[in-house]
Amino acid sequence: MVDLTLTDEQEDLRELAHSFAEKDIRKVAWEFDEDSTWPQEIVEKAWEIGLMNTHIDEAYGGPGLDYLSGCLIEEEMGWGCSGIGTSLMANSLASTPVSLGGSEEVKEEYLGMLTEGPALASFCLTEPDAGSDVSGMKTTAVKKGDKWVLNGSKCFITNGGYADWFTVYAKTDKDAGHRGISAFVVPKDDTVTVDKKEDKLGQRASNTATITFNETEIPAGNLLGEENHGFKLAMMTLDRTRPGVAAMAVGIARAAFEYAAEYSKERVQFGVPIAMHQAVAFMIADMATKVEAARLLVWQSGILLDQGKRNTLAASHAKRFAADSAMEVTVDAVQVYGGYGFIKEYPVEKLMRDAKIMQLYEGTSQIQRLVIAKEILMGRQADEETPEAKAKKAEASANGSGSAKDAATA
Ligand code: CAA
Repeated sequence: MVDLTLTDEQEDLRELAHSFAEKDIRKVAWEFDEDSTWPQEIVEKAWEIGLMNTHIDEAYGGPGLDYLSGCLIEEEMGWGCSGIGTSLMANSLASTPVSLGGSEEVKEEYLGMLTEGPALASFCLTEPDAGSDVSGMKTTAVKKGDKWVLNGSKCFITNGGYADWFTVYAKTDKDAGHRGISAFVVPKDDTVTVDKKEDKLGQRASNTATITFNETEIPAGNLLGEENHGFKLAMMTLDRTRPGVAAMAVGIARAAFEYAAEYSKERVQFGVPIAMHQAVAFMIADMATKVEAARLLVWQSGILLDQGKRNTLAASHAKRFAADSAMEVTVDAVQVYGGYGFIKEYPVEKLMRDAKIMQLYEGTSQIQRLVIAKEILMGRQADEETPEAKAKKAEASANGSGSAKDAATA
């Protein structure tokens, strides 16, 4: 029988994350949204109590938590405020390609920076003309002696204005489409400029910036994985982060559902609480079902990774359904509040604005459908092993002498 019971550790972690979301995030969330305030103190406290960088391996100072645990934390962050939650969780997106493809030295240096202090890192994939179509990117990396030289601009970069280092995707063979992209770790220096901070509809407490690399030189060893294998590294990264993003969407939806359910019991129209009107009660019921169903898809997509199985299909199911559900549930929450739902004094309009980005970042809902269709129609095996699982097996059979990086980039 399938058992969805969490371990004691997972329950404790969820409780810790919930308490942090309630006491440290929610109480400032609406104010931070209005002023678009960067949540520095919250970042520092979240780092201090261990709610950031949860997937970084113990060998590099992280807790090496499982993916399901990461999803539990992200749901609570989304429930507290997904703008602040995105600021806290973006390190995972930037550090995953390093964990998957970095040399020992690179992992020690850059993952170490994130675990030794509340440092931040950003994932630089998107460009003005390369959003869903990753292979259309124009940023270049050219090998000069023992260095790579990067030039180009990346947009919509989460935490870009505050990052200490960046995972950057660049063309290393401009005629080879997706097979001509490589990934690099780039520390912040004077050649890396923050050109623009976006003024956004929602998630206004998160920092979203344009970052430009101007003749930026990095050591040859900062290449992640193999040259021209960056596209696959990006896709493998998104497989690992989309469950968490989907979990954050569940958190937004849950918050909207809770507010709407409470309000429907208090608001009286036609002589009874509006919850007594079936039109409203059914909306509340549908919200609850969407939250539960989305969470199950999220857990499945995380658990598959924890079992060492490829989760591409499950991650896209989870991201697509949770993001679309968050949008639907928050729109309905505004509807339950009626005219008050449209007023900033009430909580649900922020949730509706925040939910919109869930259908856009880390792959739009349309891209998730594209991935789902490809996975189904191409008949890929859902239980294919992940490179991490293969690397563990290889290491075990080589009696500790195998290299995780070799297996990850094979
Ligand atoms: N794991 C490993 N390899 C994969 C893979 C996966 N999940 N998915 C695809 N690949 C491989 C394929 O096997 C194929 O390999 P070969 O070169 O050996 O043939 C190669 O990658 C190309 O695959 P496809 O033909 O399926 O690629 P495509 O171009 O048709 O489709 C796409 C790719 C799904 C559209 C992809 O480009 C995509 O996901 N786009 C969306 C990008 C995205 O999510 N951007 C968000 C940026 S992050 C962000 O939002 C920032 C933030 O701060 C929050």
